[in-house]
Amino acid sequence: MMAEPKLALYVHWPFCRAKCPYCDFNSHVASDIDHQRFAAAFRRELAFLAAQHGRGRKLTSLFFGGGTPSLMPPWLVAAIIDEADRLLGFENGAEISAEANPTSSEASVFRDFHSAGVNRLSLGVQALRAPELAFLGREHSVDEALTAISMARETFAHVSMDLIYALKDQSPEDWQRDLSTALSLGLDHMSLYQLTIEQGTGFYTRARRGEVLTAQDDIAADMYLATEEIMTAAGLPAYEVSNYARPGAECRHNLVYWHAHDWIGTGPGAHSRLTTDDGRLGLAMRRSPTAWLDAVAEQGHGLDMIHEDDRREAVAEFLMMGLRLVTGISLQDFSHRFGSLAQSVNQTTLHQLLDQGLLTMTADHLAVTLDGRMVLNSILAALLDTQD
Ligand SMILES: C[S@@+](CC[C@H](N)C(=O)[O-])C[C@H]1O[C@@H](n2cnc3c(N)ncnc32)[C@H](O)[C@@H]1O
Ligand code: SF4
Repeated sequence: MMAEPKLALYVHWPFCRAKCPYCDFNSHVASDIDHQRFAAAFRRELAFLAAQHGRGRKLTSLFFGGGTPSLMPPWLVAAIIDEADRLLGFENGAEISAEANPTSSEASVFRDFHSAGVNRLSLGVQALRAPELAFLGREHSVDEALTAISMARETFAHVSMDLIYALKDQSPEDWQRDLSTALSLGLDHMSLYQLTIEQGTGFYTRARRGEVLTAQDDIAADMYLATEEIMTAAGLPAYEVSNYARPGAECRHNLVYWHAHDWIGTGPGAHSRLTTDDGRLGLAMRRSPTAWLDAVAEQGHGLDMIHEDDRREAVAEFLMMGLRLVTGISLQDFSHRFGSLAQSVNQTTLHQLLDQGLLTMTADHLAVTLDGRMVLNSILAALLDTQD
């Protein structure tokens, strides 16, 4: 019998000081937030999710994402961690992460977050030079970010930072310099994202008017390859398409997503993915903070949508998430969950992709190569097209 999948908890805090022009996350700017009401709603929804889907499992990780969780009052962070502990409990050494923006006022709560139980901080630094911070519409300066990083390092055992690259007018040399600065700060994890233009954002509107906001594709590809080389040489190789870590410092919470294990998500717009006897279940909560609060007060949860995956959808999730990892998917895990790989993916395509050096297969694993990582979406589309 297969072991029960690991269980993680995601908590969504849907507020930010200002809306960044590139960001399509479920985040809102609000002046008047009823924190007590949010605390009660998180407690109630968590109790509902734990009773329905906990199945006696302890949590392997908890992640406060957003929005900007570093704007949460520390007592609220503590209350949610305590309630998760009471309802489900944590595995030994569980990872408890929070996303934080590196402004000086937010850095002042790091210690309180640590006392509340947070043991890993993910800082949204985005850029390490003033013109790029301005282009990205960020609220913090380079100095504030550097101070926040050093305060975070003094406080937390694990600190990660997010950077965004492949911006217009950014040369590979500019990016390599930024990356060297970032590496000199001594963190054990970095998420390095190429700028994407998302529908509904300020950048989307500008791009539709004809403005160029991202680097050209060939320059972005060169930057990706340079990133791989620099990060590997520094001892933080890629373990996922956009994530780099010293071995052992990988984000355990995100590994739950990439291994298609189970997670419950509470808060506006939060998603859950759960393994059931028949397959996989997806839940989504109401996106609007007020609608979510009202629904939880009325019925004990903010459920907006429940979706039962058919086998094809569950296979697609497993491949789409697992092939993002440099180690790829475990073939044993695949056959335990879904039976034969040969019946699930297009075999002709699989062999072509192996011959082209975009995929590799060993007795245990199917993985995407470095060249393949740069065209991952088309690899997935081709593999999942099973009309042989
Ligand atoms: C939930 S968001 C941000 C967390 C935090 N509020 C902050 O701004 O630092 C997580 C990360 O996604 C990345 N991100 C968001 N939108 C992006 C985009 N359009 N292109 C590339 N990266 C993006 C940013 O690096 C960001 O830190
Ligand atoms: S990038 Fe962070 S601060 Fe900016 S809008 Fe998105 S979630 Fe909020």
